[in-house]
Amino acid sequence: MASTNGAAQVLVASNRGPVSYTVGEDGALEAKRGGGGLVSGLSAIGSDADALWVCSALSDGDREAVRRGIGEDGVRMLDIPADVHADAYNGIANSVLWFVHHMLYQTPLEPVFDAEFRRQWASYEAYNRAFAEALAEEAAQGAAVAVQDYHLTLVPGMLRELRPDLRIGHFSHTPWAPPEYFRMLPDDVAGQVLRGMLGADRLGFLTERWAEAFTACAERFAGGLGGTRVGVHGLGADADFLRKRAHEPDVEERMAALRQEIGPAPDGGARRTIVRVDRTELSKNIVRGLLAYRRLLEAHAEWRERVVHVALAYPSRQDLAVYRDYTAEVQRLADEINAEYGTPGWKPVVLHVKDDFARSLAAYRLADVALVNPIRDGMNLVAKEVPVVSEAGCALVLSREAGAHEELGEDAITVNPYDITGTATALHEALSMRPEERAERSKRLAAAATALPPAQWFVDQLDALRG
Ligand code: G6P
Repeated sequence: MASTNGAAQVLVASNRGPVSYTVGEDGALEAKRGGGGLVSGLSAIGSDADALWVCSALSDGDREAVRRGIGEDGVRMLDIPADVHADAYNGIANSVLWFVHHMLYQTPLEPVFDAEFRRQWASYEAYNRAFAEALAEEAAQGAAVAVQDYHLTLVPGMLRELRPDLRIGHFSHTPWAPPEYFRMLPDDVAGQVLRGMLGADRLGFLTERWAEAFTACAERFAGGLGGTRVGVHGLGADADFLRKRAHEPDVEERMAALRQEIGPAPDGGARRTIVRVDRTELSKNIVRGLLAYRRLLEAHAEWRERVVHVALAYPSRQDLAVYRDYTAEVQRLADEINAEYGTPGWKPVVLHVKDDFARSLAAYRLADVALVNPIRDGMNLVAKEVPVVSEAGCALVLSREAGAHEELGEDAITVNPYDITGTATALHEALSMRPEERAERSKRLAAAATALPPAQWFVDQLDALRG
């Protein structure tokens, strides 16, 4: 696939790249460009001929594309053996590092660092090494390299050894665990992760809180930051893209369909909508969100028949049993609430478990209330996107544990994500907010949410890395 033969001036490295391939029935490869903050943020470099994005082949289609030498300019996919990738991605990155930084371990989901873990850790090292070697091969003298996320924590240190001339940055899209939780990792592994990260010239985080947690870990377990600088860049929503995309024909179609599913209130007026959009991800706390909605219907009978909870969930990481179980639990609870409270003309929960960005935008447009209640979240872009797109202005019920809370807390209704009755009360407050107040707050939320759009977010990091 596209290689710059050592001429790239700006390089990005991430597990998931901007494009993926599927093999069609006729054997032809079909390319699909991904969405999301990282992709739109890094598209800022997309037109630059000296830029290269190094990513991993994730699907059979991706591997086939690598073998056939098919690819996009500016993108190099690494065909890492499927079993090594599975160990590194599912085993270490998503089952251990993700759980540590989101503090998700709780009985009976406990960390087990046994021989199997050691085998997976060796794969994680090999996977990181494959990235470091590809980057070393592609980078021009003195080039800037922006390594992304917890999948690639060892890359900065490895790359530093191969190419001391490079400017190396690393950006974390997740929270960072505080020292007392981080030390759960075996000492040698924790040391490797920290030394790997500290191989970078500069580390970026989404909020002060995560940057401070990293610094505290480095001080306690790695003798400090050394020469590594730490900075904060709060990735914002892409207002221009969202507003335009939200009015395309496929979104209009989804809106009509959603309106049909929501239906009118008994007095003929519009029903209120509480919207949430997440990956089916444990840290997003979808189950407690549904329990809070059930509590709202129980404690505030006045909302029955007059509100609908639109919950859109994108299937995520379904290779992992705990994610599959979680997805099933979300489905089961939504069915239970519908059976308990639903009437012939009213379905209290409209749940869709499917990857459908157009439907998400349609739901954003219709939102009266956005529910964003993660247990812990690096930023949470949904909290930033809904106020930008919602037509009447939305009230935002927001977990204090989401990175976005640092920027949006003043105009949101803050919740403790574990507190179900507290979240139900917040939903009631959000639904009861005067329309003028709601519109004003939503406007301020949208302004704060778009302060650092993705392209600027990336350029700022590059400037800081070079400066
Ligand atoms: C989080 C991570 C990203 C990741 C995304 C989707 O936002 O920080 O690096 O790409 O989740 O997860 P997935 O496992 O599907 O790539």
